[in-house]
Amino acid sequence: MFSTEFLDIPSLHSAAGTITLPGSKSISNRVLLLSALCQGTTVVHDLLDSDDTRVMLAALRQLGCGVQENGTTVTITGLGGKLQNAQPIEFFMGNAGTAMRPLTAALAVLGGDFTLKGVARMHERPIGDLVDALRLLGCRIDYLGNDGFPPLRVGKPSLTLDLPIQVRGDVSSQFLTALLMALPLAAQQQDIVIEVVGELISKPYIDITLNLLQRFGIQVQRDGWQRFTIPAGSSYHSPKTIHVEADASSASYFIALGAIAADGAQPVRIQGVGADSIQGDIRFMDAAAQMGAQITSGPNWLEVRRGAWPLKGIELDCNHIPDAAMTLAVMALYADSPTTLRNIASWRVKETDRIHAMATECRKLGAQVEEGEDWLRVHPLPKNQWHPASIHTYDDHRVAMCFSLAACNAAQMPVRIEDPKCVAKTFPDYFEALFSVTQADKQNIPIICIDGPTASGKGTLASRVAQALGYHYLDSGALYRITALAALKAGLLLDTAHEVAIADLARTLPARFEGESVWLGAQDVSDAIRTEEAGMNASKVSVLPAVRTALVALQHSFQRLPGLLADGRDMGTVIFPHAPLKVFLTASAAQRAERRHKQLISKGISTTLDSLRADLEARDARDSNRSVAPLKPAQDAFQLDNSQLSIEASVDQVLAWWKAKQPF
Ligand code: DC
Repeated sequence: MFSTEFLDIPSLHSAAGTITLPGSKSISNRVLLLSALCQGTTVVHDLLDSDDTRVMLAALRQLGCGVQENGTTVTITGLGGKLQNAQPIEFFMGNAGTAMRPLTAALAVLGGDFTLKGVARMHERPIGDLVDALRLLGCRIDYLGNDGFPPLRVGKPSLTLDLPIQVRGDVSSQFLTALLMALPLAAQQQDIVIEVVGELISKPYIDITLNLLQRFGIQVQRDGWQRFTIPAGSSYHSPKTIHVEADASSASYFIALGAIAADGAQPVRIQGVGADSIQGDIRFMDAAAQMGAQITSGPNWLEVRRGAWPLKGIELDCNHIPDAAMTLAVMALYADSPTTLRNIASWRVKETDRIHAMATECRKLGAQVEEGEDWLRVHPLPKNQWHPASIHTYDDHRVAMCFSLAACNAAQMPVRIEDPKCVAKTFPDYFEALFSVTQADKQNIPIICIDGPTASGKGTLASRVAQALGYHYLDSGALYRITALAALKAGLLLDTAHEVAIADLARTLPARFEGESVWLGAQDVSDAIRTEEAGMNASKVSVLPAVRTALVALQHSFQRLPGLLADGRDMGTVIFPHAPLKVFLTASAAQRAERRHKQLISKGISTTLDSLRADLEARDARDSNRSVAPLKPAQDAFQLDNSQLSIEASVDQVLAWWKAKQPF
């Protein structure tokens, strides 16, 4: 997951390859609650691991459910319709509507002493219609803040179920879903009837609810979309095992990506959800096809290619695909005529006011946008009018994912996504998935080089800057260290006598970097390459020209989306001479000797400052004067003397230079 302040997505020129989507949020949280209300255990496979499901799991644990997690398989031991402890409980619901609404209803019917709170935005999301309906049937619910909004206090009910329960359907379908999941708990003696007042929005989500209720033993009778009856004697039965479908709303980004950028031989293939999904958002397929996408499907997969190009503008009532329809707003930028999305009033009460958010951010890209209370019109954005924009994401996962698609523009503009970790709500690894199926021109994948003498602190600085930007990190010194280690293991001498053999080894070096650890084939060599001796050995192989040449391709292969931080002596001069930012890091020999001294002492290695300083100065002289790749700053490098700077100050300086070079 990218936990950086922002993520710069380079201009993407094409898309191809396979992605496997995480489980559906709507299905995951419904299945968790239904499993909790059953007697016995339910094994849930392919559960989404995200902020919203974690909120639900935490709440179920607080209620006394058994929760055993094993990757994406979670085993729930249910309450059997009764609560085990009578203690007051305070629940924190974050910004998870799919947890807040159904839990409120279930807890209100079960009864107890509960407080339900969330983040500030959750306290602005309406729940009044659900509370009204629950109060009418005898539940005790008080508002702790503003009337009609969380936080809430829930007490013990005295239920009266004789009259139909009325609930408004035109604000959020989650109110009806919440009642449909809670009321089977009370349907022992008599039928329970729910009547929807007003036009029901987002009907497909009710379909998901009914479908899952059926899997848990509850057959709801439905008369149109107005009247739902839970028959007397209904009770929850665990299906024992259940698989969660991949998220159809998440599929929308990759369907759109295929329609915009899969113009080569290979399609974008989406695993985990197919055209026969029970999720309403799968109908996004039809809208995308109308705009030009070529889509084929089989059991649990979709393949998407570019069809009509530019895409075709459409006018669509989006009530049936409220979440996925946001993706159409960004596809509209690539169309030949305006696209109008209608009947989307519910966007205004989601994670953020999504009509406002989509309009504002599309305008930042340069597009002309019109909006009304419940509609949005986005005009095509011609190539010469694209702006490089920094997209504000409003703590809304879908805004972040949608606007990543703006990076496919023909103007070759990068796009900055602010607060990229907000995608964790439903798709924590979204950007990794995106980068795994998109390609960019090499010259558009940014590289920052940090060169400098030994013990100048390059490694620390480079890896911190890489972390701050979410970029890959190439520690080229480690490659020479690994090469020397591999050569010694192969019984080679580290000099010109075996230069060709060492170069052969280097060319196919099975080196891997995983977080902090470094692997040579199946062996973790993180410690072995960090000794003083390994450094000396690296120094020996690094003066062999054939070895340096053999490592060039491997070093180039680190230039991957979204960008690279390359650390080493010849990064800016030899390996990546066209890098847009080069930093030559120095510190006085005295300072470097002192740092190295501290480092060695802390490792229990005894040494003196004077001898270290003499060593460093000798190495500087050797490195600068050697005939092969001598240590020297690139002509266009920024020099940074960090003798008097903290690590943070050095990182800030490099980031400041980097930001100043960006177009945002
Ligand atoms: O940065 P380091 O101490 O891990 O580097 C190990 C050796 O490899 C050192 O002697 C310098 C050499 N080296 C090199 O010649 N070219 C590079 N790009 C990186 C390191």
